[in-house]
Amino acid sequence: MRNRLLAFAALIVVLTVPETAAPAAEAQPLDARPVFSFGLMTDIQYADKPDRQRMYYRSTLGRLRECVTELNRHPLHFVIQLGDLMDGYVQPDKKRQPSDVRKSLHDLDRVLPELRRLDAKLYHVIGNHCLRAGRETVHKRLGLERGYYDFAPRDVERWRMVVLDSMGIEYGELGKEQTEWLEATLAKAANRNERVIVFNHFPLLRETTTRYDMIFLKNQPAIRDILDRSGCVVAYFAGHDHAAAYAKDLGIHHVTFPAMAEAHKTNAYAIIDVFDDRIEIRGFGNVPGRSLRFTVSNSRPATAGNPR
Ligand SMILES: [Fe+2]
Repeated sequence: MRNRLLAFAALIVVLTVPETAAPAAEAQPLDARPVFSFGLMTDIQYADKPDRQRMYYRSTLGRLRECVTELNRHPLHFVIQLGDLMDGYVQPDKKRQPSDVRKSLHDLDRVLPELRRLDAKLYHVIGNHCLRAGRETVHKRLGLERGYYDFAPRDVERWRMVVLDSMGIEYGELGKEQTEWLEATLAKAANRNERVIVFNHFPLLRETTTRYDMIFLKNQPAIRDILDRSGCVVAYFAGHDHAAAYAKDLGIHHVTFPAMAEAHKTNAYAIIDVFDDRIEIRGFGNVPGRSLRFTVSNSRPATAGNPR
């Protein structure tokens, strides 16, 4: 009797399954393996000085050590830090400035050896605090010819990483030269049919600056327009605000990552997995996990006759 009931139940299940199958695209499982993965952290902001408000200056070094150890356990194409490696020192008294630069540099030199333990190649974004050690010295220490540049992850096609320098000419200002470079770099990427992730210290949108109101880029409307017109940017990753934030604007995912310096008794870093149709953020500590979907139309097909 029990067998008969089971057979009857099975028949009902079969009869109630709709005849038309779901479209193939929907039925396909998500790709299990990312095209590439990278590590990310921001606002390490180490300083050999007492904690202040939410800033845990000295202990951030221990969190960085833990972060590097964890990142080294994963196969990563690269790691990127989004600026403010150390807090630095600024005295209103000009006579004390040389000693401020020296002290800032001393703290920077405590952070860099920790980052050198990374197995993956490390890329740097310049933050406002980094410059307290002097721009020229910082560039030398970080091996940068200039603060803005682009690169493609090793052995990865169709993806380009674009790094901006928020402190191009002054606080929160890219400047004319960098803005023109950005426009040209994105145009080239679009012609090569590449998708782009933009990295910058400063968030671009008011919605992605949760704590401080006035810290988005000064030439924000122009930059926003350039990113939109390029048709190839899928995400914009920033730090500086110290809190986590997210907004989608003109089809571009804007993510602000929380500061490692404020991640007291926890941590703040991420592993980002990039797929053909989405970016998955695996957050550690204060960084929320996110899945950022994008459509192929984000990337323009290369037109015949365009230089490749
Ligand atoms: Fe900052």
